[in-house]
Amino acid sequence: MMRTAIVTGAGSGIGRAVAARLAFDGLAVLCADLNQPAAEETAAQLAKAGYPTRAVGADITDEAAVSAMVAQALDWTGRIDTCVANAGAMIEGDILSLSLDDWNRALHINATGAFLTARAVLPHLLVQGGTLVFTASTVGLSGMKGVAAYSAAKGAVVALTRQLAADFAARGVRVNAVAPGAVRTPLSESQFRARAVDEDAFQTLLAQVIGRYPISRWGTPEEIAEVVLFLATERSSWMTGQIIPVDGGLLELR
Ligand SMILES: NC(=O)c1ccc[n+]([C@@H]2O[C@H](COP(=O)([O-])OP(=O)(O)OC[C@H]3O[C@@H](n4cnc5c(N)ncnc54)[C@H](O)[C@@H]3O)[C@@H](O)[C@H]2O)c1
Repeated sequence: MMRTAIVTGAGSGIGRAVAARLAFDGLAVLCADLNQPAAEETAAQLAKAGYPTRAVGADITDEAAVSAMVAQALDWTGRIDTCVANAGAMIEGDILSLSLDDWNRALHINATGAFLTARAVLPHLLVQGGTLVFTASTVGLSGMKGVAAYSAAKGAVVALTRQLAADFAARGVRVNAVAPGAVRTPLSESQFRARAVDEDAFQTLLAQVIGRYPISRWGTPEEIAEVVLFLATERSSWMTGQIIPVDGGLLELR
């Protein structure tokens, strides 16, 4: 039986790169995304290269959809060895500008979505042992201006990672998280475009962001995916409860 992975948010950015990296490592990958055509596009790219893959449209904030996603993986290969709970969304704003609705959306997508995904896959990871990898963020570990709700939600993902690691370490399931810094994806692109009035302001803002990074460039989705692969597989067999920044030195060296 093939080792099987579920990757949420696999239709874009980091999730798409993670799906590819796990497939290259020999896992069968179920690509899940709210945007079903995008998940299908990722799966089509992998299938074209000869890798076993499927796609599913699934909203991680919808309990029934998350159950259906897990059922689809089990129907396909009969097992789940790893789940990369990566789907998330940026909600901008400092606390004075955030509405209750913004706050609830940020928590719902990033924290509740992680909870629902983890709760649905864990019983199946426990069958033969396995791994759960969350995509947190550097802003879940350290403050950044203007993202109060997103930061709080990623902080919840960090705490959930440690908590689940403690609860399941003795039962053969390891739980870790990657904490990316600024990675050039549709998410970060739209975040900075929303703050800039025109192209010049956008380019200035990008330069300011990158100026804060000791390795002074954006990260790539592939650089995050490499660390996710490490955390998702036996390469990291004595690690659990860790939050690994992949951030060009931002948190440690600034
Ligand atoms: N890009 C960055 O700089 C950066 C930095 C730190 C953390 N992250 C985190 O990395 C993860 C991936 O981000 P990305 O930059 O690749 O973003 P992205 O916007 O390129 O991709 C996110 C994917 O998640 C999907 N998605 C959104 N809401 C969903 C839901 N409710 N259910 C299922 N799928 C949903 C989207 O359709 C999209 O395909 C997110 O959790 C994000 O918070 C990104």
